[in-house]
Amino acid sequence: MGCFRFPFLAILFIFFLFAITIRAQVPANQTFKYVNQGEFGDRIIEYDASYRWIETDVYSFYRFPFRLCFYNTTPGAFIFAIRAGIPRDESLMRWVWDANRNHPVGENATLTLGQDGNLILAEADGRVVWQTNTANKGVTGISMEPNGNLVLHDKNGRFIWQSFDYPTDTLLVGQSVRMNGYNKLISRTSDADGSDGKYSMVLRNDGLIMYLNNSGQLLIYGGWPGSSLGSFVTFDAVPENENATAYELVLAINQDVPPPGHSRRLLQSRPIRNGGQLNLNKLNYNATYSFLRLGSDGNLMAYTYYDKVSYLKWEESFAFFSSYFIRECALPSKCGSYGLCQRRMCVACPSRKGLLGWSESCAPPQLPPCKSGAMVEYYKIVGVQHFLGPYMDDGEGPMKVGKCRQKCDKDCKCVGFFYKEDTSKCLLAPLLGTLISDVNTSVGYIKYSK
Ligand SMILES: *[C@@H]1O[C@H](CO)[C@@H](O)[C@H](O)[C@H]1NC(C)=O
Ligand SMILES: *[C@@H]1O[C@H](CO)[C@@H](O)[C@H](O)[C@H]1NC(C)=O
Ligand SMILES: *[C@@H]1O[C@H](CO)[C@@H](O)[C@H](O)[C@H]1NC(C)=O
Ligand SMILES: *[C@@H]1O[C@H](CO)[C@@H](O)[C@H](O)[C@H]1NC(C)=O
Ligand SMILES: *[C@@H]1O[C@H](CO)[C@@H](O)[C@H](O)[C@H]1NC(C)=O
Ligand SMILES: *[C@@H]1O[C@H](CO)[C@@H](O)[C@H](O)[C@H]1NC(C)=O
Repeated sequence: MGCFRFPFLAILFIFFLFAITIRAQVPANQTFKYVNQGEFGDRIIEYDASYRWIETDVYSFYRFPFRLCFYNTTPGAFIFAIRAGIPRDESLMRWVWDANRNHPVGENATLTLGQDGNLILAEADGRVVWQTNTANKGVTGISMEPNGNLVLHDKNGRFIWQSFDYPTDTLLVGQSVRMNGYNKLISRTSDADGSDGKYSMVLRNDGLIMYLNNSGQLLIYGGWPGSSLGSFVTFDAVPENENATAYELVLAINQDVPPPGHSRRLLQSRPIRNGGQLNLNKLNYNATYSFLRLGSDGNLMAYTYYDKVSYLKWEESFAFFSSYFIRECALPSKCGSYGLCQRRMCVACPSRKGLLGWSESCAPPQLPPCKSGAMVEYYKIVGVQHFLGPYMDDGEGPMKVGKCRQKCDKDCKCVGFFYKEDTSKCLLAPLLGTLISDVNTSVGYIKYSK
């Protein structure tokens, strides 16, 4: 009893024990340990993945059309995830939430809900890879909600933890990005590689902004920049009227926002803002099972699952870069690493010798490493715009074209410059990608080494 020499400490210890014992727990018969092993499910699944669905004696973790699974796109690298869609209905099943996409687990990894209420994903050797950090917070159960939200709740049904608070690249209907919480979607690297990719969509004080991560430098290429959208933005499917014959897919804003200060001029093809929401698309059917995703190519798209049809139940229901929203040519990856885009098509591969035929191997000129001091030259393309132009007010200026060139000469990260002959604006490009066909007063100068 050496440690209880001080009555004060003894009382504290007893109080502490008491506090633990009265804390509500997960009933023993509802705790579980699922081991990731066994047969894989039927195919027809996104990313051509293999998967196992997660099921215990007590929980099925299935709420039409959502289900908990482990999936892998490379052998032995599993992601704990939520799937939407049902097997054998001839439609692709989609992955709408990932827990551990940057840290996949192996065969025999375990998913455990202990009596303390912590949900833990661990490798077979016990190393913890991911957890909800909800130990001793009053969790009494786990449930898959009808909207695809996986929740840990307390005895009053209050959510202590919810997957909706941790979006990956996808927002389900009712799910939000928040300024004072998780404020972004990040794309996958590719279909095969689920780790963080280079595109993100971030809610900030100055809007909901789509960024391309160019080796750490964030370049804006889309979204709704320019003014605050409030502290959270929610993806929603709103019935048009009480008969619900049609649904609007929207991004709902939680405050009254002033009308747009300035429009996007070049890229925008229809009004996109209406009071407290950003309208994405209108669908003439029930769009309750929709999700919005930032794809690995950087496009923001919605898909809607309509189970009243017999097959092909998923429909592409919105695309940010598309014929009905923002011009497809403004998607930086549209023409792969390089190309000239006109009317939704990659029409040419610009080169020192002029415009050549485009193919996927089209690439920008190789430049020497930054410190070599090599001589550079430029070739000229008349009638092009850079994807940054509309978001950066076409660059700095007015200035003379020679001055613009000098700036690009001096900046070894500048791979070319875009000059507006009518307004004398100068945009230095840190990356090329897809060049947008434009009026012939917009001229591109592409750097190459002599
Ligand atoms: C779990 O145990 C409680 C009593 O502790 C009981 O009421 C409940 O029905 C049990 N649930 C299952 C699924 O066995
Ligand atoms: C997984 O565990 C089982 C026993 O439950 C064992 O037979 C198997 O070899 C393990 N797999 C791997 C890859 O460790
Ligand atoms: C951008 O990408 C780099 C790797 O190229 C990475 O280290 C960094 O965290 C990324 N930044 C953001 C904000 O995504
Ligand atoms: C809803 O349907 C009823 C019956 O068909 C019709 O009378 C009513 O006008 C409809 N309401 C709207 C807003 O279309
Ligand atoms: C739309 O679908 C959802 C999900 O199945 C359902 O709850 C809702 O009642 C449907 N709405 C109408 C108007 O049928
Ligand atoms: C640009 O186009 C106009 C007519 O659309 C033409 O008159 C002018 O010569 C062109 N300028 C260049 C530099 O090609």
